Amino acid sequence: MTDAPPPSPRRALVTGASLGIGEAFARRLAADGWDLVLVARDAGRLDALATELTARHGHRVETIAADLSTDEGCTAVEGRLAAEPVELLVNNAGISLNTPFVRSAVADETRLVRLNVLAVLRLTHAALGPMVERGHGAVINVSSVAGFGVPMPGSTYSASKAWVTNFSESIGQSVAPLGVRVMALCPGYTRTGYHERAGIDMSRTPMWMWLRAEDVVDEGLRDLRKGKPVSVPSWKYKLAVAGLRHAPRRLLRGVSRDSRGRVGRSGG
Ligand SMILES: NC(=O)c1ccc[n+]([C@@H]2O[C@H](COP(=O)([O-])OP(=O)(O)OC[C@H]3O[C@@H](n4cnc5c(N)ncnc54)[C@H](OP(=O)(O)O)[C@@H]3O)[C@@H](O)[C@H]2O)c1
Repeated sequence: MTDAPPPSPRRALVTGASLGIGEAFARRLAADGWDLVLVARDAGRLDALATELTARHGHRVETIAADLSTDEGCTAVEGRLAAEPVELLVNNAGISLNTPFVRSAVADETRLVRLNVLAVLRLTHAALGPMVERGHGAVINVSSVAGFGVPMPGSTYSASKAWVTNFSESIGQSVAPLGVRVMALCPGYTRTGYHERAGIDMSRTPMWMWLRAEDVVDEGLRDLRKGKPVSVPSWKYKLAVAGLRHAPRRLLRGVSRDSRGRVGRSGG
C-alpha cells in the first residue's frame, strides 16, 4: 500500500499586503498554513515580508509588485489568478483622498475608483471562474462601515465602499449555491497608518473607536467560516451600523455634515 500524498497547502492571494490590514491577513494566513501570493506596489517591502513569513512558517510566499489602479497592474494579477487559481482572494488594497471632490484633481478621483472599485471587480471576476468550476473557494472584499449609506460630504470614498459592499452581497448570493462564498469585510477606524498616509487628521477621533488590524482579520475570517455575507468587526461598530441602517437619512446627512465640514473630504 502506498502512502497518500500529503494534502497540498491552500493558496491565498492578498492585495495591499505590504501594510496594515493586508499585512495582518498575510501574517495570519501564513501562520494558519496557507501558501500566499502578496500584491502591492512596493516590491522591497513585499519581498521582506515574504522572506520573513517563509522563514517562520516554511510555506511558499510569492510576491507581485503591481499598481492595481492601472490596467497593466490588474492584468498581471488576473494572469496569475488564471495560471494558478487560489482558494481565497482578499481584495484589500484601497485608498482615501484628503481633498473634497470639488477641489480634487479628477485624475486622483479616477485613481480611487480604479483601485477601490474596478480592481475589486476585475480580480473577483478572475478568481471566481476557477472557484465555481471546482465548487469551492472564497473572496473577501475589504469595504468599510463608511459604505453603509453614510453620505460623507464631498467624499467619493464612502460611495466606492458602498459599491464594494453591495457588489459583494450581490455576487455572493449568485455563487453561494455553487459552493463559493463572497463576503464584504467592513471595518471601522483601524490603526494602520492609512489616514496619516492620506494626510487625514484623526487627532479628534476618540481612542475607543480604533480597532486593531489583527482583530479585524480574526473576526473577518471567523465570519467567513460562518458563511456571513457581510462582516462588521467589533460590537461597537455592529451597534453603529444597526443605527445607521435605521436612522432617517436627513438626520445622517446633518450629523456627517457637522462632523466633517461643508465641503468635506474623502476619508476612510
Ligand atoms: N484603516 C482604516 O481605518 C480602514 C477603515 C475601513 C476600511 N479600510 C479599508 O481597508 C483596506 C486596507 O486599509 P489599510 O488601513 O490597511 O491601508 P494601508 O495601511 O494604507 O495599506 C494599504 C495597502 O494597499 C497597498 N496599495 C495602495 N495603493 C495601491 C495600488 N494602487 N495598487 C496596489 N496596492 C496598493 C499599499 O501598498 P503600496 O503602497 O506598496 O502599494 C498597502 O499594502 C482599504 O481598502 C481601506 O479602505 C481601512
